[in-house]
Amino acid sequence: MKFGLCRTVFALFIGCALRYRGGMKLIIDTDPGIDDAMAIAYSAAAAELDLIGLTTVFGNTHVHQSSRNARYLVHKLGLDVPVAQGAAQGWQGEQHAPSTHVHGPEGFGDVTDIPEIGQNHAQGAAEFLVEQARLHRGQLVVCAIGPLTNIADAIRLDPGFVQNLAKLVIMGGAVFCNGNVTEHAEANIYHDPLAADAVFEARAPTVLVGLDVTLQTLFAARDFDALADQAPDTGGFLREISRFYLNFYREVAGLEGCGLHDSTAVIACSHEHLFETQATGLRVIQQGDERGATRPDADRPPVRVCRGIDVGQVMSLFTDRVGSLP
Ligand code: BDR
Ligand code: CA
Repeated sequence: MKFGLCRTVFALFIGCALRYRGGMKLIIDTDPGIDDAMAIAYSAAAAELDLIGLTTVFGNTHVHQSSRNARYLVHKLGLDVPVAQGAAQGWQGEQHAPSTHVHGPEGFGDVTDIPEIGQNHAQGAAEFLVEQARLHRGQLVVCAIGPLTNIADAIRLDPGFVQNLAKLVIMGGAVFCNGNVTEHAEANIYHDPLAADAVFEARAPTVLVGLDVTLQTLFAARDFDALADQAPDTGGFLREISRFYLNFYREVAGLEGCGLHDSTAVIACSHEHLFETQATGLRVIQQGDERGATRPDADRPPVRVCRGIDVGQVMSLFTDRVGSLP
């Protein structure tokens, strides 16, 4: 009898342990996207991150392609998380033209035969974000690595959304450096400057991981080769989709390597100590040549803008962890 009880308690304990993966609850809002795929792979390998869902947005691709690619990554990485589809265009209502010259026609460079696996979550991205933030009040980190439309939609849906977050980490902006889509603007902010401005006004506990730091994390062809040796399946796939991206960096920016933009933001979720931040209010220029520029504004609520980065540590974290995957 006593032994039977022990066995039941043990079975319950093991069941809970298997279901519970400790760590920081994380939702990645994403437009995969080559460097998005790298960031999602990193999140799958990082034990301190408990990825509970992906929300998708237009940006590098049309939103239906972002969702298909996200579902493919979930399957490939052996994750068991929902993919909730979000915005197809920005708040200004402009028809969106995907960044095919950077990320290829389907978002994964020269790889175009990406299968449709599974289905999107029944809830849309904003509804999912709002619900999960309520459910995990004070514990949820949202990492936005695409245009900020879904985040702004969540704030519009529930003005208390940002107060429920432990942290909002944004890959976007070029506060003290030049942009990448224009001289003044970084791509994620440029694609929906109105939503970005609304997010910067919202008093969220924000960390901004912009080009100020992400362009220091250049990942070269030989780094992809090493990753593919260590992790033939995941690393091999990332190497394959990245050829197109590396060519873009070489031809357009004259750089032998691509920025680990989105992975750096995911790393900042749990390793903010590897960054030097400066509290700065921000506003976003909406029109004209400077559209999408992120400008310091002392009248706005402060966000923690990353200005310095421990490049070596960030890059080793990425390589070691993604390298540990199959
Ligand atoms: C950002 O824009 C996109 O092209 C990348 O995926 C990244 O999120 C870099 O400016
Ligand atoms: Ca992205």
